Amino acid sequence: MKLCHALAVLIIAWLAVIGHVQAVTLEVNQGNSTCIKAELSASFSITYNTSSGTRTAQVSLPDSSTVDAGSSSCGTDGSSPWLVAVFGAGHALGLGFSTNGSLYSVANLTLQYNLSDTSVFPDSDSLDVVTVVSSSLGIWATINTTYRCESPTTFSVGSASVTFSGMRLEAYMPQNDLSPTESVCTADQASTAAPPTTPGTTTTPAPPPTPPGIPERGAYSVSNINGSVCLLARMGLQLNVSYFSLSQNKTIQELVNLSPNETIVSGSCEPSSASLVLTQEPIATLNLTFTLNSTNSRYRLSAITLLANWSDMTAPFWASNTSLDYLRSTLGRSYMCNAEQTLAVVPTFSLNTFRVQVQPFEVTTNQFATAEECQIDQTQMLIPIIVGAALAGLVLIVLIAYLIGRKRSHAGYQTI
Ligand SMILES: *[C@@H]1O[C@H](CO)[C@@H](O)[C@H](O)[C@H]1NC(C)=O
Ligand SMILES: *[C@@H]1O[C@H](CO)[C@@H](O)[C@H](O)[C@H]1NC(C)=O
Ligand SMILES: *[C@@H]1O[C@H](CO)[C@@H](O)[C@H](O)[C@H]1NC(C)=O
Ligand SMILES: *[C@@H]1O[C@H](CO)[C@@H](O)[C@H](O)[C@H]1NC(C)=O
Ligand SMILES: *[C@@H]1O[C@H](CO)[C@@H](O)[C@H](O)[C@H]1NC(C)=O
Ligand SMILES: *[C@@H]1O[C@H](CO)[C@@H](O)[C@H](O)[C@H]1NC(C)=O
Ligand SMILES: *[C@@H]1O[C@H](CO)[C@@H](O)[C@H](O)[C@H]1NC(C)=O
Ligand SMILES: *[C@@H]1O[C@H](CO)[C@@H](O)[C@H](O)[C@H]1NC(C)=O
Ligand SMILES: *[C@@H]1O[C@H](CO)[C@@H](O)[C@H](O)[C@H]1NC(C)=O
Ligand SMILES: *[C@@H]1O[C@H](CO)[C@@H](O)[C@H](O)[C@H]1NC(C)=O
Ligand SMILES: *[C@@H]1O[C@H](CO)[C@@H](O)[C@H](O)[C@H]1NC(C)=O
Ligand SMILES: *[C@@H]1O[C@H](CO)[C@@H](O)[C@H](O)[C@H]1NC(C)=O
Repeated sequence: MKLCHALAVLIIAWLAVIGHVQAVTLEVNQGNSTCIKAELSASFSITYNTSSGTRTAQVSLPDSSTVDAGSSSCGTDGSSPWLVAVFGAGHALGLGFSTNGSLYSVANLTLQYNLSDTSVFPDSDSLDVVTVVSSSLGIWATINTTYRCESPTTFSVGSASVTFSGMRLEAYMPQNDLSPTESVCTADQASTAAPPTTPGTTTTPAPPPTPPGIPERGAYSVSNINGSVCLLARMGLQLNVSYFSLSQNKTIQELVNLSPNETIVSGSCEPSSASLVLTQEPIATLNLTFTLNSTNSRYRLSAITLLANWSDMTAPFWASNTSLDYLRSTLGRSYMCNAEQTLAVVPTFSLNTFRVQVQPFEVTTNQFATAEECQIDQTQMLIPIIVGAALAGLVLIVLIAYLIGRKRSHAGYQTI
């Protein structure tokens, strides 16, 4: 991309939160204007194979990293904006961006590393240049604001992990420097008691959206392209979110019930993954993703994502965890749990479920298949059975005792 002339300004080598990781400044330019700017520290933990087993290399993004003008792009030619920083002997870190007009996000993170570089990967049994990609990182901000996240945040990419800290980042920049208004990541909101600086917050505080209580049970379904229902769910859902409240000037814990009659249902079904997306405008979008393990024909709720923009928040709340293991059941069955369950997602967000029945795969004739009941329900059902059995036993003993006693007294009577 010739138009794009990129440059990397680095410097300010302050010691970041984790060890000797340096802060690096990277910019993608086109003509005289800057479209992407990032100030961040990054460290990588890369697992590779040696002849005697696996090893993990620790690398940090050095201050000598430069923006690769050839592969970076402002995305003006219809492609997506892309920041590619190169360092060392053929290693690279790439951040691809996307926007929908009101938000922008890091669409994917690419890490390229050169296993021939023996200073970083001693004894590697491969000499390949490996490229790994991860998408949906959850780094996003309102357009025309700077994304800020001081807290270390780790993402896994292939057999590597990338940890960012002290991050300030903006794409689709309106000016040549980072916007003064910031979208602060949830990790920072939770860890710092001080209210984040958000100039221009004149929003009037609003009361909590819905008072807590047991949430109403909703019936939701997702259809595939040809109109047949492929995912069925019946459940009551309650969000437990902690965020920084503008009106109360402190971090608060809020319980919000989803009202089924105000919820827009969408989703998708694929052979080995299915998702249910519940949107309650303008409160929240909750995304539940189920995955199927075809090896053992079992499915589970593997990812939960919440996006909430309540008027009392300093910045939209985003939380996601894609390595969950909840609501496990077998293919061809539905999952059922009448007892209340708490599904922990991230420290600042958990999801409470009530009277769940769900079937994300192999739904036929719009009906739930035979249910597999959760362990808590089975245990709870066991209690009345045990109590019943104990009572029956007691009655039997009393009866036998009575009969024996009666026979004895009868016999005694006769001998006299
Ligand atoms: C870039 O800036 C230089 C000097 O500041 C100016 O002469 C040139 O026209 C500018 N180019 C663009 C594309 O704006
Ligand atoms: C290491 O080797 C094993 C077996 O050959 C392979 O499955 C695995 O993907 C390799 N790991 C890496 C990080 O290359
Ligand atoms: C990988 O590293 C080796 C050794 O340092 C070097 O010769 C080679 O050019 C590097 N590959 C790339 C793609 O930069
Ligand atoms: C990364 O995301 C950008 C923007 O959405 C896209 O253009 C690019 O193809 C993606 N790269 C990979 C490797 O997925
Ligand atoms: C962009 O996406 C967010 C979250 O998905 C949504 O709330 C917003 O309405 C979208 N904006 C546009 C213009 O589509
Ligand atoms: C972002 O800022 C630019 C320039 O100031 C403006 O033209 C644009 O409308 C703004 N976009 C939004 C979504 O506020
Ligand atoms: C609907 O499409 C799916 C694949 O998308 C296919 O497996 C199924 O048989 C189709 N059902 C009907 C009724 O056409
Ligand atoms: C909400 O989450 C907080 C913190 O995780 C926890 O202490 C509290 O008990 C939860 N409340 C409910 C009703 O689940
Ligand atoms: C919020 O609380 C902090 C300390 O807890 C205080 O310094 C600040 O003035 C308060 N802001 C408002 C708007 O009340
Ligand atoms: C949804 O149901 C609740 C309680 O059942 C009711 O208070 C509310 O008005 C309903 N909202 C709509 C849009 O029907
Ligand atoms: C699928 O199940 C098999 C057998 O239990 C297990 O070894 C494997 O790790 C599972 N795969 C995934 C992706 O969870
Ligand atoms: C969040 O809500 C505020 C007002 O309530 C609105 O101005 C802002 O655009 C919303 N942000 C997103 C990302 O939807």
